[in-house]
Amino acid sequence: MLVLGLETSCDDTAAAVLQDGKKLLSNIINDQTRVHSRFGGIVPELAGRSHVDQVQKVIRQSLESAQVELSQIDLIAVTVGPGLIGSLLVGVNAAKGISYGLGIPLVGVNHLEGHLLAIFLQNQIEFPFISLVVSGGHTDLYRVDNFGQYKNLGRTRDDAAGESFDKVAKMLGQKYPGGPIIEKLAKDGDPGSHQFPRAYLEKGSLDFSFSGLKTSVKTYINKKQNENGGNSTINDIAAGFQEAVVEVLSKKIITACVKEGLNRVVVTGGVAANGALRKAVASECEKAGFKSWFPDPVFCTDNAAMIACAGYHKFKSSPESEADLLDLDATASLYLD
Ligand code: KG4
Ligand code: ZN
Repeated sequence: MLVLGLETSCDDTAAAVLQDGKKLLSNIINDQTRVHSRFGGIVPELAGRSHVDQVQKVIRQSLESAQVELSQIDLIAVTVGPGLIGSLLVGVNAAKGISYGLGIPLVGVNHLEGHLLAIFLQNQIEFPFISLVVSGGHTDLYRVDNFGQYKNLGRTRDDAAGESFDKVAKMLGQKYPGGPIIEKLAKDGDPGSHQFPRAYLEKGSLDFSFSGLKTSVKTYINKKQNENGGNSTINDIAAGFQEAVVEVLSKKIITACVKEGLNRVVVTGGVAANGALRKAVASECEKAGFKSWFPDPVFCTDNAAMIACAGYHKFKSSPESEADLLDLDATASLYLD
C-alpha cells in the first residue's frame, strides 16, 4: 500500500511516500526558516502564503524521489490539526483535491499522533509505552496502549519547551528557530555558571511549566546588561537554560514510568532532536532499568513521513470508518485523547 503523507501545520511544507507503513520511499521538507528567521518567530500569514507557493512542488518532488506516479498512490494522509489554521487549510485542500481526482481514500491525521508514531518508521516498539511529545507547540506526556489508544498524563501549563528555546534564543539576540542554536551555544558553555530554576510543580505532577524559567533568564540577562552583574557568557546562559529544561523533562519521564508501571520510553517532536536531551533521557532510563527510543532528528522535527505512518495505521485499523470524506476540515486546536 502506497501512502502519500502531507504536512503543512506550521512552517514546513512536507510530503512523503511510505510503502506498507514502514518503507520510506521519499521524505521532502521545504522549511520556511528563511521566511521567518528575521522576525524571531513564525508569522502565520507568511507561513500560509509560503505553503501555497510550495505545496504542489513538494508533492511532485516526493513522487519523483520515490519514483512513483500519482496514480499509484492508494491513500492520502494529511495533517488536520493542531496548528496554524491558514497553514493547515493549504494541506487539507491539496489532499482533498488529490483524493477526489484519483478517487482514493483520504485520512485526516492529528499532528501529535504523527509525532507519537514517528518512531514506527524505524522501530517496532511493543505497547504499552510512555511517550513525551516535546515540540514548539506541545510538551505532552502520554501513555500509549496501542495505535489510536493514547492517554494524556501531563502537559505544559504555559509555554511549550520548544517555545521556551525559541524565546530564550531571541533574548540572546539569535534567530528563529532557537532550539538548534541554543544547543550549539550550550556546547561551549558552563551550565553551572548560573543555576536557573526547575519547575517540578506539585509533588508527583506530570505537568510542566517553562514560563518561570524563561522569565528568570530574561531577568538575568537584564541584570547583566544594566548592572554589569555576573560573569556568564551567552554560551553559559544557553547551557544553564538547556540543562534546566532537560533535567525536568527527563525526570518527569521517569516519574511517569513509575506511576504507570511501564519500562519503555519514546521521546519525540522537534526538541527531541536535542542531543543533550537524548543523552539525559537515555542515561536516566538506563539507571532505572528502562529502555528508551528516539526517532532520528529528521523524524523528530516536522515531516510528512510521520503523517503517512500515522495515516497508514489509522486506515489499517478500520478502513471503512477511518476514511474521511471531502467535508474533512482543518482544526487549529485539537487534542489527542
Ligand atoms: O516538532 P516541530 O518541528 O514543530 C512543532 O510541531 O512545533 O518542533 C519545532 C521546535 C522549535 O521550537 C525548535 O526550536 C525546536 O523544536 N527544536 C529544538 C531542536 N531542534 C528543533 N529544540 C532544542 N534542540 C534542538 N536541537
Ligand atoms: Zn510538530
